[in-house]
Amino acid sequence: MKFVTLKIFLFFLFIVSLKAQIYLDPNATVEERVDDLISRMTLEEKVGQMTQAGRSFLNSENDIRDYFLGSLLSGGGSSPNPNTAESWANMYDSYQNQALSTRLKIPLIYGIDAVHGHNNVKDAVIFPHNIGLGATRNPDLIRNAAEVTAVEVAATGIDWTFAPCIAVPRDEKWGRTYEGFGETPELAELAAVAAIYGYQGDSLNEQKTIAACAKHFIGDGGTTGGIDQGNTEISEEELRAIHLPGYLKAIEAGVGTVMASYSSWNGQKLHGHYYLLTTLLKEELGFDGFIVSDWAGIDQLPGDYKNDIKESINAGVDMVMVPDRYVEFITFLKELVNENQVSIERIDDAVKRILKIKFELGLFENPLTDRSLLNLVGSQEHRNIARECVRESIVILQKKDNVLPLRKENQKIALIGKGADDIGLQCGGWTIYWQGGLGDITEGTTLLEAVKKNTDHSNVIFSENGEDLSDTDIAVIVIAEEPYAEFEGFKEDLTIPDSDVELVKKAKEAGLKTVVILYSGRPMIINPILQYSDAVVAAWLPGTEADGIADILFGDFQPKGLLPH
Ligand code: GLC
Repeated sequence: MKFVTLKIFLFFLFIVSLKAQIYLDPNATVEERVDDLISRMTLEEKVGQMTQAGRSFLNSENDIRDYFLGSLLSGGGSSPNPNTAESWANMYDSYQNQALSTRLKIPLIYGIDAVHGHNNVKDAVIFPHNIGLGATRNPDLIRNAAEVTAVEVAATGIDWTFAPCIAVPRDEKWGRTYEGFGETPELAELAAVAAIYGYQGDSLNEQKTIAACAKHFIGDGGTTGGIDQGNTEISEEELRAIHLPGYLKAIEAGVGTVMASYSSWNGQKLHGHYYLLTTLLKEELGFDGFIVSDWAGIDQLPGDYKNDIKESINAGVDMVMVPDRYVEFITFLKELVNENQVSIERIDDAVKRILKIKFELGLFENPLTDRSLLNLVGSQEHRNIARECVRESIVILQKKDNVLPLRKENQKIALIGKGADDIGLQCGGWTIYWQGGLGDITEGTTLLEAVKKNTDHSNVIFSENGEDLSDTDIAVIVIAEEPYAEFEGFKEDLTIPDSDVELVKKAKEAGLKTVVILYSGRPMIINPILQYSDAVVAAWLPGTEADGIADILFGDFQPKGLLPH
C-alpha cells in the first residue's frame, strides 16, 4: 500500500511540476511567463541572459550552453563561410540548439546590423543608406524597406536588427552622417515610426518580423566637431528638442530595444548615465523594452572593467554587448551581486525586460529558422522596392536647360568614373564588410549596367578616367566617396577632390554637356565642379539597385527627393 501511495504522490508531483511550467505555456500572458521563468532561474542563468557575446569570439559553441548566454551578435562583416543565406541559417540554428540544451531551454536572441538591407549577407538586397531614405520623405517607402529587410533577416533565422539609427547628425564631418535620416528631429520622428513598424510589424510573433533597436541613445549625432563617440555639449533643453523626439516616436511605435550611445553628454558617458538611461528613458518615457550597450561600450567608462560593469548596469544597461571577454563579464557581474554592489532587483529588472522581448518574438515556440523564407533573400520583388527607394532618394542639385533627361536614342554617352561600375562604391560602409569594400562585393546592378539597359550598347562608352571622349555628346561623371563606417569616416574637408574635379573639367573642355552623379554619405562641398557642370545629381549611397538612378536620368520617373541636410 505504501508503495502505491508513493507512486501516486510522485506522479502528482510530476503533474504539478509540468502544470506549473507556465513559462512554456504560449496561452499564458507574457507577464505570467516572465514571472514564472525568472522565479526558476539561478543567478548564473540570469547573468547569462544579460550577456551578448560576439560570434567570432566564442571559444567554443558549447560556451552558449555552459554560460547560459542570452544573446549573440554578428559585428559588421562577421559572417559564416560560405556567406550564403542558407549558411547563415545553419549557423543560427546551431547556436540556438546550444541554448535550447540548457536546463530551462531559454532561446538566444541574435542581433545584427541590418541597417540598409541584410547587408552582411552576400546577395541580399542593399537599400540606400538612411540619408537617402530621408531624402525620400516617404514613410511608406521607409517602412517597405524595413519590412523587406526584416524578411531577409528572418530568413536567416536572426531575430533582431540594430536599426533604425535615429541619430540627428548636426556636423557632416561625422563619419556616421549617412546612418541618420537627416539633420532635423522631424526626420528622425518620421523615420523612427516607419522603420520600426517595418521591422516589427503588428506583432513581433510573426515569422517575418524582427525586433528593432533605436540607436544610439542619446545625442550621438550632436557631438562637438562631429567627432565619433565624442562629447555632445548642449543644454538639456536642446538635447530634448533635437535628439529626443525620435525616441518618443520609437517608444510610441513599440520599439523592442534601445542601444546606448558611445558618446557623452556634457562630459559624462551615456553608458554610465543613470539620469538619461533610467530616469528619462525608462521612468519618464516609460520604455519597457531593454537597453543594450554598444560594442564594448562599457569599457570606455572610467575605472577598471569590474567598475565599468557596476556603473553601466546600475545606470540602466540591461544587456551588455561584451563582445569578447564574456567569461570575465559574467564572473564580475556575479561578484558584484554577491557583494551587493549591483542589486538582485536591478538584475531581475534587466532579465525580465530581455525575457519579455524573447516571449513576444515567439522564440520559445519557434526558436529555429523558418526555411520557407530563404528563397526571398535577394528576390526581384525585393530589388524592385529598393529601386523605388533609390528613385525617390535622388535630389537634383543643379540642372541647366534640356541637359536631362538623357535620350535613349541618338545620343552617345561617355560614362566616366570608377563609381559608375562598382557595386562597393554604390553601397558604402556596412556592406558585406564593416567598412564596406570595392568592386563586385555582392549581387546588384551598377549604373553602367543600368544605363546600358536604356540605350543601345554602342551609345555608351565607359572609362574610369574619361580618356576617350571623342564621338560622344554628353558625359555622365560619377564622383564617389570611398566606403567608410563610424570613426573611419571622419573627414575634416568635405570638398570634392581635385582628381574628380579634373574629370568634369576635362569633359566640359572637350565640349560635352556634363551631368555629375554624386555618391556620398553626406553633403559635399561641390563649388569646384559647378562651373563645369550642366547638372549635379545627389544619389547618396544608393545600394545595389542603380536602375533607380537610370529611371531618373532617362526621364522615366520625375525626381522628387528633397535634401535631408
Ligand atoms: C558598432 C556601432 C553600433 C553597432 C554595434 C554592433 O560599434 O556603434 O551601431 O550596432 O557596434 O556592430
